Amino acid sequence: MEIQFSNLKQEKGAIAIIFCDQNSRLIGYGKRLDQLSKKHLSNTIKSDDSFMKRKSKNFDYIMVHNPHNLSFSKIYVFKLKNIKNYSNRDFQILGGNLLSLIKFYKEYNVIIYPDGVKASKVSFINSISEMLLGLLLASYKFTKYFSKVDNKRKKISKIKIYTNQFSRLEKNYETVKAIHEGVTMTRNLVTEPPNVMTPPELAKNAASLEKIGVKVSVLGEKEMTKLGMGSLLSVGRGSEHESKLAIMEWKGHKNKKKKPIAFIGKGVSFDTGGVSLKPAGGMEEMKYDMGGSGVVIGLMKTLALRKAKANVIGVVGLVENHIGNMATRPSDVVKSYSGQTIEVLNTDAEGRLVLADALWYTQEKYKPELMVDLATLTGAIIIAIGNEYAGLFSNNDKLSKQLEDAGKIEDEKLWRFPLHDKFDKMINSPIADMQNISSGRGAGSITAAQFLQRFVNKVPWAHLDIAGTTWSKTKLPTSPKGATAFGVKLLNKFVSKYHEGK
Ligand code: BES
Ligand code: MN
Ligand code: ZN
Repeated sequence: MEIQFSNLKQEKGAIAIIFCDQNSRLIGYGKRLDQLSKKHLSNTIKSDDSFMKRKSKNFDYIMVHNPHNLSFSKIYVFKLKNIKNYSNRDFQILGGNLLSLIKFYKEYNVIIYPDGVKASKVSFINSISEMLLGLLLASYKFTKYFSKVDNKRKKISKIKIYTNQFSRLEKNYETVKAIHEGVTMTRNLVTEPPNVMTPPELAKNAASLEKIGVKVSVLGEKEMTKLGMGSLLSVGRGSEHESKLAIMEWKGHKNKKKKPIAFIGKGVSFDTGGVSLKPAGGMEEMKYDMGGSGVVIGLMKTLALRKAKANVIGVVGLVENHIGNMATRPSDVVKSYSGQTIEVLNTDAEGRLVLADALWYTQEKYKPELMVDLATLTGAIIIAIGNEYAGLFSNNDKLSKQLEDAGKIEDEKLWRFPLHDKFDKMINSPIADMQNISSGRGAGSITAAQFLQRFVNKVPWAHLDIAGTTWSKTKLPTSPKGATAFGVKLLNKFVSKYHEGK
C-alpha cells in the first residue's frame, strides 16, 4: 500500500471515500461534492431507506456509482456513528475499517477526503494521523515465502489523502511512519519461521538498528559464560544455535547522562519445552515465543526513527529451547548472573531463566530509572484473562498506572495481578535458592512473576505477560491474523506521554 497527500481536488477515474454522520448527513468536503453533483449524492443516500435508518452499526457505507458531474467512477459514503465521541483509537479502527472496505472491493486507486471529520476531544490533524496509522497497520502482509506471487497480490493499492491541511499533516505523518515501521519489524520477526529467525539472526536484526542511530552490542556464549550467566545459558544448551544477549541504546534526551528507562524482552526463538518436551499439538505456535524480544527491537526502531527525546535501553535475551544431548535436565542446578542458584525442575519454564540474567544485567550495568520486561511467559495467563488483555505485574503503583493508561489509549490493554510473599515462598527449593516452577498448583503466572522479581532490586519494575496477545487467531481491527506486535504502540505511548523531554 502506498499513501500520498495532496490538496483538495478531484481525480478522473479514481474512487472517492467521503463521510456522513450518523443521521446520514454529509460532512465537510462531501457537502461540497454534493453541491457539485447537484445533490446526486444526498439524493442517493435519501433513497436508501435502510441506510438512512441504520444508526447502530459501526461499519456502514453506501456506494454511489458514476456520480453526476464528478470525475470519480464511484464514491463510497462512509457513515461515522458518534464521531463527536471518537477517541484516538477509534480513528485507528476507522482506518482499519476503510482498509477492509478497499480490500474487499479490490480498489487500487482511492482518494480519501477527510476534511470536516472531527471529534470533540481529538484535533483534526491527530485524528487523521491515527486514521492513517490504522490504514497502514491493517495493511500488513507477509508474502516472503510464496514462490509464486500472483499479479493481484503484487498490485499495490494507491491511497491518497486529499485535504486542505496536507502540509501540516505531512509532518505528523513522520511519527505515523515511525510507529508503522516499528510494528512491521516486530510482526516480521515474529512471523518468520524458527529455522530462519534463530537467536543469531534476531541479534543481527537488533544490530541493523545501528543504521538509524541506535548503539548495539551483542554478547555471545563466550562472553556470557565469562560473566557467569548460567541461568540464560542453561536454556540454549540443547540447541545448535548460539545464545545471544543483544543490547540496544538510544540516547535521545538532551542530557545524555540521564538515567535510562529499560525494556527487556524474552527471545526464545523456538520453545520445544526442552527435555520437559511439549506435546506435538500446537507446538508450532512456539515460534512466537520470541515475541517479547520482537517488541523491544521494533520499539527501539520506532523510538529512533521518530527521534524520541528519551534515553532508552533495550535488552533481549535470545535463545532456542531445544532438546539435545547437552540439554539441561529437570533437577539440574544452575547459577545465575546475580549469584543466586536455581533448581531447574521443568525445562519448559525457560523464559524466566532467560529474563533472570537479562534483568540483572540491565539493572547492574545501566542503573535504569525503571525496567519493563515483556515475555510470552505463561500459558496460565491465557487461562486467566484470554487474549484481550496482557498480564501486568509490578512492584510500583505509579509505573503500573502509567502503563495501564498508555495501554488504554492504544487499546493494548493491561490487567494488573497481585504479587505477594506468600506466592514467593512457593518457589523455594530444598536444594538451591529457588526452583523454576512453583510447588503449588495455582497462580502459575504470578509465581513466574515472583521468580522474576527475585532478580530485581529496588528499581521500579513491571512485567508484561504477553503470551495471550502476541499472536491472534482472528483478524483484529488494525491487525490481520497472526503477529500483532502488541506492546509496541503501548510502550511508544508510555515513552512519549511520560518519559520524554523533562
Ligand atoms: N512459552 C511458554 C508459554 C506460552 C504458552 C506462551 C502458550 C504462549 C502460548 C512458556 O515457556 C512455557 O512453556 N510455560 C509453561 C510454564 C510451566 C512449565 C510452569 C506453561 O505455561 O505451561
Ligand atoms: Mn516453555
Ligand atoms: Zn517459552
